[in-house]
Amino acid sequence: MTSTRRIVLSSDHAAIDLRQAVARHIAAKGWDVVDIGPTTPESTHYPKHGQAAAERVTSGDCALGIVLCGTGQGIMMAANKVPGIRCGVCADPFSARMIRAHNDANMMSLGARVIGEGLALEIVDAFLDTAFEGGRHATRVDMIEQAS
Ligand code: RB5
Repeated sequence: MTSTRRIVLSSDHAAIDLRQAVARHIAAKGWDVVDIGPTTPESTHYPKHGQAAAERVTSGDCALGIVLCGTGQGIMMAANKVPGIRCGVCADPFSARMIRAHNDANMMSLGARVIGEGLALEIVDAFLDTAFEGGRHATRVDMIEQAS
């Protein structure tokens, strides 16, 4: 059974430093962090890292995932191509709370060229500390999942 406090992290080359800061922060909060890299700074392709992280979530290995690239946009698009993934880009804590509370997001994306580390960690806290509200929002999330 998936631990509810096990989370996968991945990024492309543009976000390695921020990803590692996020990993330290989340581990200090008591989460089991699965950081699947990359660890070296060579240019790489964000789609494969987004997809690999997403598959850790849909396989049940991890309950949640956070992915990062320069803008957060490309790796979010790649993650969302994996059926069952609901990933939103966040650049503010309000959006991070709402994608959990209303959209039952199981992944979040951050842009390392958009936000600084301090704001990123506040966004991460908002995402991790918020539960899905269910109710009418569950109906809407089911509609997302039923769309092809
Ligand atoms: C890499 O240069 C950049 O395109 C990537 O990190 C990301 O911003 C794509 O969405």
